Amino acid sequence: MFAGDKMRVRAIEKSDIDHVMKWVNNRTITQHLLAFTLPVSRLAEEKWVERAAIHGDADKFFAIETLQGEYLGNCGLHGIDGINRHCELGIVIGQEKFLGQGYGQDTIRVLLRVCFDVLNLNKVFLRVFSGNIRAIKCYENCGFKQVGRLKEHRFVDGAWNDEILMEVLRADYKQANS
Ligand SMILES: CC(C)(COP(=O)(O)OP(=O)(O)OC[C@H]1O[C@@H](n2cnc3c(N)ncnc32)[C@H](O)[C@@H]1OP(=O)(O)O)[C@@H](O)C(=O)NCCC(=O)NCCS
Repeated sequence: MFAGDKMRVRAIEKSDIDHVMKWVNNRTITQHLLAFTLPVSRLAEEKWVERAAIHGDADKFFAIETLQGEYLGNCGLHGIDGINRHCELGIVIGQEKFLGQGYGQDTIRVLLRVCFDVLNLNKVFLRVFSGNIRAIKCYENCGFKQVGRLKEHRFVDGAWNDEILMEVLRADYKQANS
């Protein structure tokens, strides 16, 4: 387990399914997430949780919980590339009552530590919808820089969103955290 100031990441367990079902069909949470355009069934999520509970070489999924053990959401490192030493970061704080309280930033700082100090990666990147202002601010606070923008790339609830590409390089992370 990897801990931050107010949360930790741990392996996803089959028993997390009830927590996950509470947010996967909540548009407040999922409106900016790629995989949740249509309603999601319990069966589909059960299959996802079973896969996510076992780390693959390229994809690692985690649950996020408070230091007291209350489930907060999920996060993951995707497309881990051992030659080019980069991966894509994904995160969702699934409980509305915990949004905007610093748990996202704490989690991302923990994930960056894992990426650079445990997995020895050189770069972490992510994609975020331009309408997801809270997420962009959260990522910028953690050292991500905007490096690209795909115009009108995602159609979200009746409106086009640009997709913004953000990244943190190992050298910049090390300089900021030395
Ligand atoms: C994106 C997400 C992980 C961020 O985590 P969080 O715990 O809610 O965010 P944090 O509290 O750590 O940080 C949010 C920052 O944005 C700021 N913020 C929040 N709403 C804002 C707004 N409307 N405009 C500008 N800044 C805003 C906060 O003040 C805070 O910055 P600060 O610490 O400098 O004050 C979380 O909101 C989430 O999971 N949302 C739903 C799923 C999602 O969008 N995932 C990301 C997909 S790319």
